[in-house]
Amino acid sequence: MLSIVEHDYGTPARTGERLVTLTIDGREVTVPEGTSVMRAAALSQIKIPKLCATEQLEAFGSCRLCLVQIEGMKGLPASCTTPVAQGMVVHTQNKQLADIRRGVMELYISDHPLDCLTCPANGHCELQDMAGVVGLREVRYGYAGANHLDAKKDTSNPYFTFDPSKCIVCSRCVRACDEQQGTFALTIQARGFDSKVAASQDEPFMDSECVSCGACVQACPTATLSENSLIAKGQAEHSVITTCAYCGVGCSFRAEMQGEEVVRMVPNLDGHANHGHSCVKGRFAIGYATHKDRILKPMIRSRISDPWREVTWEEAIGYAASELKRIQAKYGRDSIGGITSSRCTNEETYLVQKLVRAGFGNNNVDTCARVCHSPTGYGLKNTLGESAGTQNFDSVMRADVIFVIGANPTDGHPVFASQMKRRLRQGARLIVADPRTIDLVRTPHIQAQHHLKLRPGTNVALINSIAHVIVTEGLVKEDFVRARCEVDSFEKWRKFVAQPKNSPEAMQEVTGVPASEVRAAARLYATAGNSAIYYGLGVTEHSQGSTMVMGIANLAMATGNLGREGVGVNPLRGQNNVQGSCDMGSFPHEFPGYRHVSDDKVRAQFESVWGVALRSDPGLRIPNMFEAALDGEFKGLYLEGEDIAQSDPNTQHVTAALTQMECIIVQDLFLNETAKFAHVFLPGSSFLEKDGTFTNAERRISLVRTVMEPKGGYADWEITQLLSNALGYPMSYAHPAEIMDEIARLTPTFTGVSFAKIDRLGSVQWPCNAEHPEGTPTMHVGEFVRGKGKFLLTEYVPTDEKVNAKYPLILTTGRILSQYNVGAQTRRTENNRWHDEDRVEIHPHDAEERGIKEGDWVGIASRAGDTVLRARVTERVQPGVIYTTFHFPDSGANVITTDNSDWATNCPEYKVTAVQATRVSQPSDWQRRFREFTETQEALLKSAGADVFVGSK
Ligand code: SF4
Ligand code: SF4
Ligand code: SF4
Ligand code: FES
Repeated sequence: MLSIVEHDYGTPARTGERLVTLTIDGREVTVPEGTSVMRAAALSQIKIPKLCATEQLEAFGSCRLCLVQIEGMKGLPASCTTPVAQGMVVHTQNKQLADIRRGVMELYISDHPLDCLTCPANGHCELQDMAGVVGLREVRYGYAGANHLDAKKDTSNPYFTFDPSKCIVCSRCVRACDEQQGTFALTIQARGFDSKVAASQDEPFMDSECVSCGACVQACPTATLSENSLIAKGQAEHSVITTCAYCGVGCSFRAEMQGEEVVRMVPNLDGHANHGHSCVKGRFAIGYATHKDRILKPMIRSRISDPWREVTWEEAIGYAASELKRIQAKYGRDSIGGITSSRCTNEETYLVQKLVRAGFGNNNVDTCARVCHSPTGYGLKNTLGESAGTQNFDSVMRADVIFVIGANPTDGHPVFASQMKRRLRQGARLIVADPRTIDLVRTPHIQAQHHLKLRPGTNVALINSIAHVIVTEGLVKEDFVRARCEVDSFEKWRKFVAQPKNSPEAMQEVTGVPASEVRAAARLYATAGNSAIYYGLGVTEHSQGSTMVMGIANLAMATGNLGREGVGVNPLRGQNNVQGSCDMGSFPHEFPGYRHVSDDKVRAQFESVWGVALRSDPGLRIPNMFEAALDGEFKGLYLEGEDIAQSDPNTQHVTAALTQMECIIVQDLFLNETAKFAHVFLPGSSFLEKDGTFTNAERRISLVRTVMEPKGGYADWEITQLLSNALGYPMSYAHPAEIMDEIARLTPTFTGVSFAKIDRLGSVQWPCNAEHPEGTPTMHVGEFVRGKGKFLLTEYVPTDEKVNAKYPLILTTGRILSQYNVGAQTRRTENNRWHDEDRVEIHPHDAEERGIKEGDWVGIASRAGDTVLRARVTERVQPGVIYTTFHFPDSGANVITTDNSDWATNCPEYKVTAVQATRVSQPSDWQRRFREFTETQEALLKSAGADVFVGSK
């Protein structure tokens, strides 16, 4: 448990190599050049009063409380805006300074409510603190004059309140929104006495551009901007550092607690991925953990048409184990398998794959990364030698060109997007390749130099045409390629991309992107200095997902953009632990550390530590499990944290497979879509209820810490262990740290990792071993992991999913800031206030042709199925393309998506589905059946007794 007090040295750190020595109050201090006098003083434990300064923001110099005397300098400069100088002599305390500071405070307090005892900020209000520090005893101006004490509160935001009566107009909120978040939603309106903070055009926060990141709330030194949870619950009494369980940015938070109750989540200033910033999900959307829908008691049933029966843990685990054994005895060893999730910790995922390989005796284990980033693993491993991104997030601050391909960082990876936007505002240039006009293309103070608005499904054609320009216009970094890459493979690739068929002019028919735009973007990427590629599921979720990842790696190698800061190939991972779940060996063909199960030497190591013989043949991938179930050969499935019935493509195919199984064991928080087909429900634990680690998109391993006891009785890793023991394969870990120790023993890239080390360093980026004892921020420095980088040919092969007269539009999918993945968590929070249904975006031309207007119901039919969503008519999408999110189960987005998948990894082709859209007036047949089935399953759940829910507690 850690203190809830965080340091604030007043102004941001400077990291230059040149050091400056000065004297402050007789104490000699040495700091990097450019450091402020305020920070230099704070670093040597000398506190200068301040109000408008905070370490998170550049100094502003408005409150005049931090004045100091500097020998040889006229007047009394503000210490927050004054940089240190060699030999400078500073005095922070004397009578003149004390009088001025008291005078400043008098003015503030004369226009401030004196309700400190009942104020939510009582005890952590900087105004209150400063009144004490300057020794304020009386306010000579009285309190009767003109003031703002009656200013009206804005309670429109569900998570925080704006009470302008307490505002001291320090502008910290405005600067936080500008500098840290990059949304520019706030301004100080008017001048002098009338000046006030306003959201957008003086609108309620909810109606403004505000995205509810909370940076302004954190920056506010008074109670003007306060979390509603803090107002309701009062001050925390302890805090615990943990890691956000939403996206692959992996932000670090202090969970501020009262006993076992979370008062608020505060982004950790020392968080290596987020540096004190957050988004609306991580900071505010944690209410799902105590939502009334959460199921806390184990349940079983023989058939999915039976009511659920609440049972003890012993009975549930015993029943699950006996069913799995029965199925194996009847249908064979390969008739069961397990699926783990990227929401799980590394230790949980490791245990699930160990249970399957050692306990089930087969390799039928897979993970939801199958349906998102499996092509990243394949493509990067085969070209660079390691299945992971090459940089840390901070590397973007050295990029001259940022090339975003098939990713929507402001919605999907918001905290990293804020950092990226900061770099773009500093002058880095931006290329976006996306079929849709994502926010990043044009956002305050940022305008993409090139938006390559390609047709969905033509990524490889585009990357080949960019490569063509680089090769044919002499833009290859020849010395890098000769020194670092397999020259033969390069020559073959050069010849391939140089073919006229790959030119931008030839490919523009395919991609829809003007050749001149492609040529200009290619020149910019190749010649800028440091060019960094960031990509997302718009690259991987295609029939040529792996080909495109290889194309990206080829491009980075050809231009020498690897192996140093500011460059690289960076997959933006969707969920919190996609990287970790892949690292932990949850694919059927690989042990932890991406080593093939057929490798005798590796398998022997695992056999000796695990004490059983292991199979050398890869097991079933998720889609193969479905096929085998439909063939009657696959009958039992253990799922931890994964909702395949909502998240996998072609829902009707998935549910048909699920209904063929005899024992589905779901370990989760809620009765999710898959649990409606289950026979055993084991109540899982939220990230607040367990210890473990997550690995973010930078390969950064961070600790997740227990802030409250597991509400269902066990942490998820304990449940897997119970099941394994019941199956007769013994596991006896006392703590997840022991699981990590085993991972470290067996995985070369993790040999130096331990909970103790992560705790000491704050986080560790793998590889972490004898060679890199404190981790590896940048990969492939000096040499690629595979030795020489390998260029692979990337022939463009159009997808089989073609438009025709019956299905003339292409549907592509994505996500939105306020919701997360299948929405199981965020739908159970106030985040629904921003997005309470999935809508289909359609271009005005396509809408007009079909008589569709904003808000109309639109039937969307594909070769796989049909569904109905309401229309949003917008030019964000191009003609011929429609777009939707998939956060709500009855939207049925995956009823429409097809079984097509990446040739190498079976990652589904979510991003390209040929569809027709028509105006309709009622739900689809599938939606009607879905609603009936859901009602039936909810009734069967109720029959288990209300006692299984959190709400019943
Ligand atoms: S919550 Fe974030 S986006 Fe909204 S006003 Fe505050 S800083 Fe800006
Ligand atoms: S709302 Fe808070 S941070 Fe913003 S100007 Fe007022 S006191 Fe300062
Ligand atoms: S950016 Fe991602 S990791 Fe960070 S707070 Fe938001 S959801 Fe959590
Ligand atoms: S803290 Fe320096 S002027 Fe306000």
